[in-house]
Amino acid sequence: MKATGIANTNIALIKYWGNRNHQLSLPYNSSISMTLDGMHTVTSVEFSKSFKNEVIINGIQAKSEEQQRVIDHITLIKKKLNIDVLLNAKVVSNNNFPKRAGIASSASAFAALTIAAVKALEKELTSQELSILARLGSGSASRSIFGGFVEWEKGEAEDGSDSYSTVLAEKEHWPELTMIVTIVNPQEKKIGSRDGMQHTVRSSSFYSAWRATIEQDLQQSRNAIYTKNFTELGTVVENNAFKMHSLMHTSIPPLIYWEPETIRMIKQVLNLRQEGIECYITMDAGPQVKILCLQKNVETILGKLSQFKEMHQYYVCQPGSGAQITDVHLF
Ligand code: PMV
Repeated sequence: MKATGIANTNIALIKYWGNRNHQLSLPYNSSISMTLDGMHTVTSVEFSKSFKNEVIINGIQAKSEEQQRVIDHITLIKKKLNIDVLLNAKVVSNNNFPKRAGIASSASAFAALTIAAVKALEKELTSQELSILARLGSGSASRSIFGGFVEWEKGEAEDGSDSYSTVLAEKEHWPELTMIVTIVNPQEKKIGSRDGMQHTVRSSSFYSAWRATIEQDLQQSRNAIYTKNFTELGTVVENNAFKMHSLMHTSIPPLIYWEPETIRMIKQVLNLRQEGIECYITMDAGPQVKILCLQKNVETILGKLSQFKEMHQYYVCQPGSGAQITDVHLF
C-alpha cells in the first residue's frame, strides 16, 4: 500500500539540546514548541519486496548519508511493528522550505515519514506511539506529530516509553501568536544538530547551568502560553535561545552556527523592540533568525526588515496543525 503524510515543522520555544541516551534520542530536558502553519514536508512511502530502497528528496536522489538515515528509520519502524524486514521502500519527499538550514526540517521530515510509513504498513498507532517513533528519527519530530503548542516530555524510563509529546494548547488557543522565520543565509549547515548537541554535552562547562535553569524556563513558558502573556513568553523564549547558543559557543572547539548576517539581524530585531515594536528572537542549529511577535505587528516588522538586504526570504507562520495522512500522493 502507498501512503502519504504531511507534517508541519515546529520551532522550539524552550529548546532541546542534548541527550541522556543518544541512540534513543532521550533528552536531558523537556522542550516546548509551536507547530508552524504552512512550513511543511509531504512524504509518500510504498513498500514492496520487488523494490530497491529508494529515497528522493525535493526531486533528486538523496545523498547516501541522507538515504541511509531514512532507510534506517524505516527499518526501525518495521522492527517495532514486527514486519518482514525484507520489504523495501520507495520514499518521495518534498519540503516547501530549505532543508538543513537550521529551520527544523528534520522535525517535519521525520514526522511525515513516520506517519506515512506506518500507514503504508497498514498499522494503526496512537498519536503517542507515533510521537515516540518519530522521536527515534529526530528528537524534534516527536513534537511535529501534534499541532498548536506542544511539550515533549523528557521522560524517565530507560527504554524511552515515556518520552513523547503532548499538546499544551491547541492552535486555536492563541492564533495571534506569529513566528516570522527569516532566511538570512540559505546554505546547508555542516554540523547537524545530532552531532552538535553531543559535542556540547561533552565539552561545554555551561551545560550544568543550562540544566539548572531549564525547569524554570519550561514553567514560565507554560504559564505564559496558558495565560497568553506575550511579554512573559517572548522574554523567556529569547533568553532560552541565547542560553542554548552560549552552550554551543562554549563547546571545545566552539560550535558557531551564526553567520555575520545573523548578528546583523539580531541587532535589527533588538532595535525594533527599542522602538516599541514588541518582538523577540529565537534561533536553532543554523544561522536563521526567527522572530516571535503578534499578528498585529507583522506588517510593521516586515516593512522595517524589507530594507535589510540580508533577508533573502521569509515565512510568516501562525500556530499550525499536527501531522496528517492525505490522499494526494507524490508518485
Ligand atoms: O531533533 P533535532 O535533531 O532536529 O534537534 C533539534 C535542535 C533544536 O532545533 C536546536 C532545538 C529544538 O528543540 O528543536
